[in-house]
Amino acid sequence: MTLGAGAPRSVRVTGWGMYAPSRVLTNADLERVVDTNDDWIVQRTGIRERRIAAAHETTATLAAIAGNRAIAVAGLQPNDIDVILVATLTPDYWMPSTGALVKEAIGNTSAAAMDVMAACSGFVYAYSAADAYLRAGVFRHALVIGAETLSRFLDFSDRATCILFGDGAGAVVLSASDEPGGGLAGLEMTTDPDGAYMIWLPSGGSRSPVSGQTMARGEHFVRMEGRETYRYATKTMATSALTAIARAGWDASEIDLFIPHQANVRIIESVAKGLGLPMEKMFVNVDRYGNTSAASVGIALAEAVDMGRIKVGDKVVLVAFGAGLTSGAIALEWTADPAHGKRAESVEPTASVREPVDWGSVDPIPERLRQVLEGGPPVPLDDVVPGEPAHAGTRVGEA
Ligand code: ACO
Repeated sequence: MTLGAGAPRSVRVTGWGMYAPSRVLTNADLERVVDTNDDWIVQRTGIRERRIAAAHETTATLAAIAGNRAIAVAGLQPNDIDVILVATLTPDYWMPSTGALVKEAIGNTSAAAMDVMAACSGFVYAYSAADAYLRAGVFRHALVIGAETLSRFLDFSDRATCILFGDGAGAVVLSASDEPGGGLAGLEMTTDPDGAYMIWLPSGGSRSPVSGQTMARGEHFVRMEGRETYRYATKTMATSALTAIARAGWDASEIDLFIPHQANVRIIESVAKGLGLPMEKMFVNVDRYGNTSAASVGIALAEAVDMGRIKVGDKVVLVAFGAGLTSGAIALEWTADPAHGKRAESVEPTASVREPVDWGSVDPIPERLRQVLEGGPPVPLDDVVPGEPAHAGTRVGEA
């Protein structure tokens, strides 16, 4: 850990990387588990497929692969990293932090590591925190990762949520530089607890520890008020982006590319319309990954650079919203040579995360999802946990 390195002249993205599990879950696959269809999903969300982590993969393993790729792209060694921030709402455990597991998995022996929880805004929040450490001269290199295994927290009998989410990880390395200019130029972050229960996972915390009762009510799965969330997202994404752009002293028309949180293509279209910009200015990959929450902006940024959509000198805006309700935007100037992305090819898509001693983990893949992944017959639709939230005071059997 490099402490007291002195305030740098700038803080820039020097590395980027992503990892998505190889197993693809298509809309057609989901037709076999809930009452839905490809047309509805594509028209309402733009999602065609998403990735699902294999049983041996966890949030930490996905994060470690994306992180190692970003470190390779930056031309650094794992031990050059001084601080690791992992944004996630689906950690491997409540403790230790996923960051701690990732630190060991990437082969780093000296960094401080922690998790950041701001749901789908997590990558933007973690980036801003890392940027502040580096600007203050506390550290020289930070690894920022957004990683999720949302498939483990979805009710595969609830068609309103299970079609939306996917697994994956995206990462950047931020480095202090003695060159002036570039990097974060404008930042906006907001948190609005009025919408605290619009997207939530009821049990597992101190308010409602997991029990047979909470499980019978399906409270260990993500719940969401889709329409309300949609309304909030369209408004806050445009406002957050405009505020960050104004703080950078720029105009929206000068932005070369927006990297919005990939929740729904209709939300992204509405943001483009609100900003008076064409869709070509919006990077979209929700069709291939669905909503990967805190991983989404990191994955999209890495793909955008590797696809040649971002070049040196470009003005780029990262913008996200998520549970909390949180939202955030970063206006930044890109300085890294996109050709460095090729260095990620040297990183194997595997990661080894420390396992607990004397503890028998269960098979992590939800049963209804497993049946689809294994290509068996359609899951009977009458075999469902009621999707409607029961009142917190309701006892099992009373609903
Ligand atoms: N397949 C078929 N029909 C469906 C499905 C489905 N998967 N899901 C819902 N429907 C039905 C509904 O039952 C409803 O039927 P009804 O009219 O007979 O009652 C109809 O389709 C319309 O439902 P709506 O919920 O009104 O559909 P909407 O157009 O709002 O789309 C969606 C739903 C896609 C969830 C949208 O509201 C949305 O994207 N909201 C934002 C969600 C989001 O971004 N969440 C991420 C938050 S980020 C985080 O921090 C995790």
